Amino acid sequence: MAVPVAPRVADCVALVTGANRGIGKGFVEELLDGGAKRVYAAARSAESLEPLVALDPDRVTPLVVDVTRIDLILAAARRATDVTLLINNAGISGAAGQRRLIGSPNLDDSRLVMDTNFWGQLEMCRAFAFQLGENGGGAIVNILSVGALFVLPEFGSYSASKWAARAMGVAVRAELYGQGTWVANVYPAGVESDMSKNTPGPKLTARDHAREVLAALADGQEEIFPGDAGVKFRDVIARDAATFERQVRERFLSDPLG
Ligand SMILES: NC(=O)c1ccc[n+]([C@@H]2O[C@H](COP(=O)([O-])OP(=O)(O)OC[C@H]3O[C@@H](n4cnc5c(N)ncnc54)[C@H](OP(=O)(O)O)[C@@H]3O)[C@@H](O)[C@H]2O)c1
Repeated sequence: MAVPVAPRVADCVALVTGANRGIGKGFVEELLDGGAKRVYAAARSAESLEPLVALDPDRVTPLVVDVTRIDLILAAARRATDVTLLINNAGISGAAGQRRLIGSPNLDDSRLVMDTNFWGQLEMCRAFAFQLGENGGGAIVNILSVGALFVLPEFGSYSASKWAARAMGVAVRAELYGQGTWVANVYPAGVESDMSKNTPGPKLTARDHAREVLAALADGQEEIFPGDAGVKFRDVIARDAATFERQVRERFLSDPLG
């Protein structure tokens, strides 16, 4: 049995989904600076990856991957057979006015959120699991959210998808332990990106976020809380989850967002 080893950036071959902007782009840039041998930058549109490829054409390989499309996921797995670090970053927060579980007109958008944030991450894990094992174990990093620690009712579908993905990561960690694959769950709180542009509060830059996550991985962490806000949420919930939930509910009742 191979025991998982904390992943290091230098000489890794990484694949990042949702690489063209935001948090994903920050990972690609940090991986290149950290000495990754190759980075597969995956996105829905090849054109949107051109600026990243231009950074280092020898080391950045563009891949077209929509994580809701199993045919594209499997094609990427056939192409990128040398991956040792899979960063499952692609995600959506859901459309305005359609994120509530009861108050939305229908569940079409909730299903898309689940398809992307949960099923998409899981299909990527499944498609790359075998070759990660063949390549020595490697690592999977699932980008979740503090929304996987507590439920924001105004973002009900998003929180549900991230909670499900959190459970998925823990299950996959156990299933792949024997082949030596390191599986980390990451809980960002606020990171500068298009997704977070309307949310208040201090935010990490995407580069700083990526740097913290990659350092935490090298340090041997499996549950990663980048930035002060993530750590605060983790500690408050660990102390008294029921009180925290009641406070979130009361805030929603008095000042419902979304
Ligand atoms: N920013 C934050 O404060 C924050 C906090 C907690 C968690 N997160 C998580 O961090 C991850 C990245 O978010 P972000 O803040 O960087 O958001 P973003 O700026 O909106 O970027 C989202 C990325 O995901 C891609 N994507 C969306 N649906 C996809 C699909 N079906 N297949 C492939 N790619 C898809 C987008 O590609 P297109 O360009 O094609 O749309 C884009 O590259 C998400 O999982 C998000 O939930 C972010």
